[in-house]
Amino acid sequence: MAFIPQNIIDEVIARNSIEAVVGDYVRLERKGGQNLFGLCPFHGEKTPSFSVNTSKQFFYCFGCHAGGNVIKFIQMIENLSFPDAVAFLAKRVGIELQLDDAPEARKKQAEYKQMQACLLDAARFFYHSYKSPQGRTAENYMQVKRRLSPAILTSFGIGYAPDSWDALTSNLLKTYPEKILLDLGLTRKSSKGTYYDFFRDRVIFPVFDHLGRLRAFGGRIMGQGEAKYINSPDSRIYNKGKYLYALNFARKDSRDFLILTEGYMDTIALHEAGFTNAVAGLGTALTSSQARLLSQYTRQVILAYDADGAGRNAALKALDLLSREQVDCRVLVMPNGQDPDEFIHANGKERFQGLLNQALPALDYRIYLSRQAASTDLGSLDILAYQEAITDLLAQESSPVVRELYADKLAREISVSPASILQVIDKKRVKEASSMPSPSFNPETNLQRVDFEFDQASLTYLNALIEDNSLISKPELQAAPQDFPSGMQEVMVKALALAEEGKLTMPEFLGLLDQAGAGENLSRSILPYFSRLTKSKLRAREDYALEALRLLRLDRLNEQREAAIQEIERADDLASQQAALNRLNDLNLALSKLRNEVQHDQ
Ligand code: UTP
Ligand code: MN
Repeated sequence: MAFIPQNIIDEVIARNSIEAVVGDYVRLERKGGQNLFGLCPFHGEKTPSFSVNTSKQFFYCFGCHAGGNVIKFIQMIENLSFPDAVAFLAKRVGIELQLDDAPEARKKQAEYKQMQACLLDAARFFYHSYKSPQGRTAENYMQVKRRLSPAILTSFGIGYAPDSWDALTSNLLKTYPEKILLDLGLTRKSSKGTYYDFFRDRVIFPVFDHLGRLRAFGGRIMGQGEAKYINSPDSRIYNKGKYLYALNFARKDSRDFLILTEGYMDTIALHEAGFTNAVAGLGTALTSSQARLLSQYTRQVILAYDADGAGRNAALKALDLLSREQVDCRVLVMPNGQDPDEFIHANGKERFQGLLNQALPALDYRIYLSRQAASTDLGSLDILAYQEAITDLLAQESSPVVRELYADKLAREISVSPASILQVIDKKRVKEASSMPSPSFNPETNLQRVDFEFDQASLTYLNALIEDNSLISKPELQAAPQDFPSGMQEVMVKALALAEEGKLTMPEFLGLLDQAGAGENLSRSILPYFSRLTKSKLRAREDYALEALRLLRLDRLNEQREAAIQEIERADDLASQQAALNRLNDLNLALSKLRNEVQHDQ
C-alpha cells in the first residue's frame, strides 16, 4: 500500500478509540482511574495484567510488556504491517482510504479492479480444468509424483492450464477486453496477430500477496524439460520482487520465525509437513523490499535454500539484506544437493525440525563456509587458510564481545592461544579503520538510526530496570548515562532519573523516546524486544542487569580503545602519539580488569 498521509492516520486513530478496538478482542474491566484491565491476548495468563489507558489512548501489558497505540495493537493482534493496520482500522469505521482523488486515479482504480477480477476468473478456470478429466496428468503429477495431499493442493489453489493454444484466452475474452489479458501476461500475441495462452499444459500455482489478494501465476511443466517454471510478468498489479509466496498463510504463524525457501514446491511441501510458517521468493533473488516485508512480520528468518552453490550465494545475499532490516537470520544446512522438499520426503518432518533447531546464525554460517573452503575433499583442513578467513570475518564484527567469543572458539579449534588470534584481528581492524575514508559514512544504515542506536545490552538493562526500578539503588547495578551508546545518552539521563524516583515504566519510557523525536519506527522495533526478554526468564533480573551493564561498559571501553588506536595511527607528532599510547595502556588495563570480573562471575 502506498504512503498514507499523516492527517489520515490521525483521523483513523481519533475515530478508533482504543477501548473499543481492544474491546473487540479482550474483555476489559475498569479498575478505577483511567485504566481498564483484561487478560493479555499476547501471552497466556490467568490474572489480568493487560491495561488500556483511555486518556493516553495507549495499551500496555505489565506481564509481557507489549504496548503502544491502537495501530500497534492491530498490527500485533492481526499480524499486519503498519499501513495494512491503518487500512484495517479505516475500514472498521468506514473511512474511505481514497489515497488519490484525481479522476485519473479513479480510472486506474477501476482498471485495477478489473485486472483483479480477471485474474480470479483465470484461477477458477485453472482450478476447474485441474479437477476435470483433462487435468488427470496434473493431478497424477502433484499427488503421486510430488506426494502432496488433495487438501494441501486445494488450499494453495493449485490448478492446471490445459494443453491447448487458446482455451483460457477464448474463455476470458467473453468478459474482458484483450488489453487486460495481454497486460496480465495471460495471453500473448503471435506474429500473425492471433492470440494464444501463455500457460499451456502446466501445473498452475496462484500467487497471492500477504493479504490474500491474487496477483500472478507460476506454471510448472510436468516432468523434465526446458523452462521448468514460467511466471506471470510484472504488471500494474504484480511485481515479483515485492511479494512472497505463501505469506498470506504464513503470516498467522510468523510470530517466532519464518522459513524462507527458494520455490513453490519447497514451500508447499513444508506446509504439508506442518511447517506453516514457510514462504518463498518468486523466481528472483531476495530483494530489499521482500526483506522489509519479512521484517514487518517476524524478527527471525531461517533460510532453507537448496544445498548447492547457487543456494549458498543466495543465502549470503539474503543474510546481508535481512540484517539491514534488523531481522535475525539463520541458515539451515542440508545435505549436499538436496532441497527442503526432497529432504522432507526422504527423511521425514522430525529430521527437518532437527535441521531447523540447528540452523546457523549468520556468523557461524560464514565460518562454516570458510571451513568447507579451507578443507580438501578428503576432509583435511588447511589451518592457515582457515585462520586467515575467520580473522577476516571477525575483523568486520563490531561487537567486541562477539569477537572474543569466536576468537576463543577458533583458538581451541586450531590449538593456539586466544590472545594471538585477537592480536591478528586487532591488526586487521586497525588496517581497515585507517583505510576507510570516514567511519560514519554509511548512508543506508546510519541516516535513520543515527540518533538512537539501541544495542542488545542497553535493552536488557532497561528491561530489568523497568521491571524493577529499585535495581538502580544497588551500587553494582548503578548505570550512568555515559555507559550507553552516545546516541542514547540524552534519553538515558531522563530515564535513569525517573528510575531513581521509582517512576520508570514502559509507557513513560516510550514517552521519553517520543519527546526526543524517536518516532514510531523505533518504539515499534524495541517493543517486541522487551517482550522477548521477559519470555525467556532464565535468570534473575539482577543477573541480567549486571551482565548487561558490564557488556555496556566493555563496549564503551572498546570504543575508546578504537579511538585511541586510530589516534596513534594518525598522530603526526611524538607527544600526541605518546599521549594516545598512554591512554591505550590505561584502557587495556581497565578492559582486562573488567573482563576478569566477567569471567570470575561465570
Ligand atoms: P528450482 O528449480 O530449485 O525449483 O527453482 P524446485 O522448487 O526445486 O522445483 P521442483 O522441485 O523441481 O519442482 C526454484 C524456484 O525458482 C523459480 C521458481 O520460483 C522455483 O520455484 N524458477 C525455477 C523459475 O522461475 N523458472 C525456472 O525455470 C526454474
Ligand atoms: Mn525441488
